[in-house]
Amino acid sequence: MAVILTLKNLTLNRDGKKILVGVNLEIGDGEIHSIIGSNGAGKSSLAYTLMGLQGYEPEEGSILFNGEDIAKLSITERAKKGITLAWQEPARFEGLKVRDYLAIGAGGNGNITEEEIRSALRKVDLKPEKYIDREVGEALSGGERKRIELASILTMKPKLAILDEPDSGIDVVSLKEIVSLIQALKENGASVLVITHRKEIAEASDRASLMCEGAVLRSGDPEEISHFFINRCIPCDNRLYLQED
Ligand SMILES: Nc1ncnc2c1ncn2[C@@H]1O[C@H](COP(=O)(O)OP(=O)(O)OP(=O)(O)O)[C@@H](O)[C@H]1O
Ligand SMILES: [Mg+2]
Repeated sequence: MAVILTLKNLTLNRDGKKILVGVNLEIGDGEIHSIIGSNGAGKSSLAYTLMGLQGYEPEEGSILFNGEDIAKLSITERAKKGITLAWQEPARFEGLKVRDYLAIGAGGNGNITEEEIRSALRKVDLKPEKYIDREVGEALSGGERKRIELASILTMKPKLAILDEPDSGIDVVSLKEIVSLIQALKENGASVLVITHRKEIAEASDRASLMCEGAVLRSGDPEEISHFFINRCIPCDNRLYLQED
């Protein structure tokens, strides 16, 4: 399989603290890849570094996207290349109507049809007629905002979608929908990097990686990685844990 993203020895410090300590990772084109790991392992920081957020400039290492090192590019330049990030806590809401919010994500009104907007809302289980004219703001519940954030990722038609805990704030019965949303992204041609604490999401991925203390400890079959994490990592008290079978 062609590789879309290669991370080589990526290191990140913040306020003098080592956050990423040499991340190596490869994501295949069209692959759904999950990242699992304990709280504080560096998963969100990795997502921000890939997206190019301010304050997340890597000290060392490279981020190869389709073979090109994008580590020095701005967030806007990366977005133009088709990289997008859905936040763990959805934050970028400006009082727009849902319709416009989803259209802007797609690069302006001309690039997306009304039916595509409605279809994206249906994919996240929001009735279009009920939500399309509502304002994206405080009046929506946390779960509704999160769903709209995820719908906006669909309408962006990204090449690489980074989803930071797409299941957070969403009830358990809706996990299946999150999985089908991730599959819809893949069907639309995206590669998906999904950060999750949910076994169900990890195991619906093509491959998974385990992060611990700012590094990727191992990558491979999702069930095997998830099993390793649950059975080997919790007793390690979040220290780098490299015991082999
Ligand atoms: N500005 C900062 N200064 C010092 N430490 C920081 C700073 N920003 C983040 N950290 C630390 O970096 C580590 C990684 O944080 P990150 O949010 O990436 O973890 P995570 O794996 O996403 O965790 P979770 O599962 O809880 O979302 C944490 O220990 C956090 O406290
Ligand atoms: Mg996080």
